[in-house]
Amino acid sequence: MSVASSLGLSPRVQIAPSLLAADFGHLADAVRAVEASGAEVVHLDVMDGVFVPNISYGAPVIKAVRPLTTLPFMAHLMIEAPERYVETFRELGCDEILVHEEASPHLHRTLQMIRHSGARAGVALNVHTPLNVLEWVKDLLDSVLVMTVNPGFGGQAFIAEMLPKIEAARRMLGPDVDIVVDGGIDASTAPRVVAAGANVLVAGTSVFAHPDGVSAGVAALRSGG
Ligand code: DX5
Ligand code: ZN
Repeated sequence: MSVASSLGLSPRVQIAPSLLAADFGHLADAVRAVEASGAEVVHLDVMDGVFVPNISYGAPVIKAVRPLTTLPFMAHLMIEAPERYVETFRELGCDEILVHEEASPHLHRTLQMIRHSGARAGVALNVHTPLNVLEWVKDLLDSVLVMTVNPGFGGQAFIAEMLPKIEAARRMLGPDVDIVVDGGIDASTAPRVVAAGANVLVAGTSVFAHPDGVSAGVAALRSGG
């Protein structure tokens, strides 16, 4: 029996396409395609070129696309000292804000800020970061994002060594906290992470580079084929 089913988890999995893999020249079309695909969440990768070696986009871009869909926005802040921007992203209409444990030394306070803003609060963990850093903030968590690649770029290969970490996260956090996976999620890795206990699948390349389009990419993740 998988960890997910042993905990009585609903098989309903949420798909969160990452706009990082979209054509930035046609972002509005990408957002509309995500909504039409039946995906549940829009995943927004904000990178500062310091915490990760890449710069993606920030507040003005999120502001521009927020009115285009009613889907929830999940902001994945790959930035140093993310607490500086919690209010900004909340005011832009982000429904869930995830900060990296490695980037926020006063993580408890940061999560309190996020919750106080009215957003759902989550922590993202780099590949090397152990789960025990969550022990004393568990009560403030709506989600935990287990990186399944090193953050900074789309299109990287799934790190299979993260499967036992996903299982351990699900065991540690129980059925009520979302376990989000991010990096290298496609039709072949999706069933493996779901069996391990993940219930929110972030996917960039496999959705936006799917030869038959965004809806087909999302459907492939659900069916695992
Ligand atoms: C990586 C980002 C991911 C990225 C995933 O730093 O956090 O959300 O967009 O891209 P794929 O699905 O292409 O691995
Ligand atoms: Zn991400």
